[in-house]
Parts: sequence; C-alpha cells; structure tokens
Amino acid sequence: MRVLVTGAGGRLGRVVLPRLLTEGWAVRATSRRPRTDPDVEWVVTDLSTGAGLPAAVTGMDAVLHLASAPSPGRRTHEVDVLGTRRLVMAAGQADVRHLVFVSIVGVDRVPIPYYRHKLAAERVVAAGTVPWTVLRATQFPGFLDEMLRGASRLGPVIGDRAVLAQPVDPRDVADRLVARLTAGPLRDVEEYGGPEVIRYDEAVRTWNAARRSRRPLLPIRIPGRLGRSLRDRGLVTDATPRGTRTWAEHLADTYGGTAQDESRTDSRPA
Ligand SMILES: NC(=O)c1ccc[n+]([C@@H]2O[C@H](COP(=O)([O-])OP(=O)(O)OC[C@H]3O[C@@H](n4cnc5c(N)ncnc54)[C@H](OP(=O)(O)O)[C@@H]3O)[C@@H](O)[C@H]2O)c1
Repeated sequence: MRVLVTGAGGRLGRVVLPRLLTEGWAVRATSRRPRTDPDVEWVVTDLSTGAGLPAAVTGMDAVLHLASAPSPGRRTHEVDVLGTRRLVMAAGQADVRHLVFVSIVGVDRVPIPYYRHKLAAERVVAAGTVPWTVLRATQFPGFLDEMLRGASRLGPVIGDRAVLAQPVDPRDVADRLVARLTAGPLRDVEEYGGPEVIRYDEAVRTWNAARRSRRPLLPIRIPGRLGRSLRDRGLVTDATPRGTRTWAEHLADTYGGTAQDESRTDSRPA
C-alpha cells in the first residue's frame, strides 16, 4: 500500500514517517523544497498554488494530509482551505481510496481564525469524492512549551490561569493516525487527546519547576467567547482512547530531571 504524506517534514510528519515505514507502507512525502531520503520518495508540492499535486497523488492508495500554514499567519485560508480543496480534487481524480486529515480538537468551539479555517478544511474533505477520516488532536506539548516561552518574553508568564489544555504527544498521534489509515475510511471525525487535562497555572508551575525557573504567573482573564471556550474545555476531549505520554514526561525529556513530582488537575478528561 502506498501513501502520500503532505507536510511530512513538520513536527508531526517527522514522527509519522518512520511509523508508516515500520508498518510496511510505501511512503511518498511532500515538501515545498527538494529533499532526499533513502526510504522515502520526496516530491515538491505547494498547496497554495497546486504545483506538483497531480503527480504527487498519482499511484497512491491513500493520502495523509498534515500540511498546514503557520498560525497565526496570513496564509492559513489559502493553504489550509483552498490548498486542501486542491489536494482533495487531485486525489479524487487519481482514484485515491482514503484521505486522512489531521485537525484540532476545538475547531468547532474555539473562535480563532486558524480554527475556523481548519473546520472549513474538514468540510472540504468530507464533501469530496475521496473516502475520508478526520482525526482531531489536542495540542502537542512542544506547542504548549513554545507558547509558554512566548508568554514569558517580558519576564512573568502571562496567561489566563483557568484555561484548560490536554497535551498529546505527537508520537501517540502518529500511532493513532497510522491505525486509522490502516483501518480504512471512517467517514467521520474522531477526537484524540492526551492522558490528562491541565490548567494553565499548573502547566506554568510544572514548566517553571522543570526549567528551574521562578517566573511568576501574571494572571489575565481572556475576555468574551474566546476566553469562555478556552476555560470551558473547548480544547479538551472526553474521547477514548487517549495518548499515554504526559506533560511531565515531555518536560523531563526536554529539560532533564524526572517526571515524578508533577501534578495535574485531572487524570480523566471527563
Ligand atoms: N502543533 C500542534 O499542537 C497540533 C495539534 C493538533 C493538530 N495539529 C495539526 O497537525 C498538522 C501538523 O502539525 P505540525 O505541528 O507538524 O505542523 P508544522 O510543523 O508547521 O508542519 C506543517 C508542514 O506544512 C507544510 N506546509 C506549509 N505550507 C505549505 C504549503 N503552502 N504547501 C505545502 N505544504 C506546506 C510545511 O512543509 P514544508 O515547509 O516542508 O513545505 C510544514 O512542514 C497540522 O495540520 C496541524 O493543524 C497540530
């Protein structure tokens, strides 16, 4: 079985590729720039123009669509919505039998432009002629880590202490994606989250402890519908199964030490 992986050089793609190879998939991978790899056939495509797409999907049994424009950014509509439409049309013409699209838990609840575009892209996938699966994952711990670094650029860590997150390790997401790909089209949306729900203030505390830092939390209250959705489980899911690797394990892997003394709000995202 042959699969085309878009955005294969990204955070998630880098983890997905070796798993697909282990499972016996023949892999073609896309990037906007030429790459070489002994085990993977790299092709150059650009979703914002459609360049390279017809050739990329030719001969593929399945497509795993991971590519996405950086957010926040000006190109998410062009790449995520229109680019997904270009991909779905090319895949339909090439008789691809399954398209798996990675989306984000909360795209239907949290009012930010990137999420609106991801939801629109989901609808493009569902309306296309290629049998499909959408897997919505929660945030990767690396993303939360970057966000905390961004939020502490001025010294204290700025944020709304009651926002809830459920970080899921990209390796767990990669395993779930490969399982979904192998199982065939679900023609539905599945949610997939990490093992625990963490409040922002706990995430900051454990992040500080792992980095041996004492940056205080400077609490703000995110106003309006956005704030309410972020505090009211907009980014978390009750769905099972869940990933297994914890935020504390991510911190231990990234900053050293052990994952022992970390705590969490809730081991069951119920
Ligand atoms: N990060 C998270 O916390 C998270 C959580 C849940 C779901 N997701 C979803 O998972 C997917 C992968 O996320 P990620 O964190 O791995 O993203 P990433 O590291 O930003 O990788 C995305 C890839 O998309 C490709 N890309 C960007 N613009 C493109 C264009 N115009 N045409 C073709 N390819 C383009 C880039 O590849 P090249 O530069 O090589 O072209 C890039 O490597 C995304 O759909 C994202 O929405 C992410």
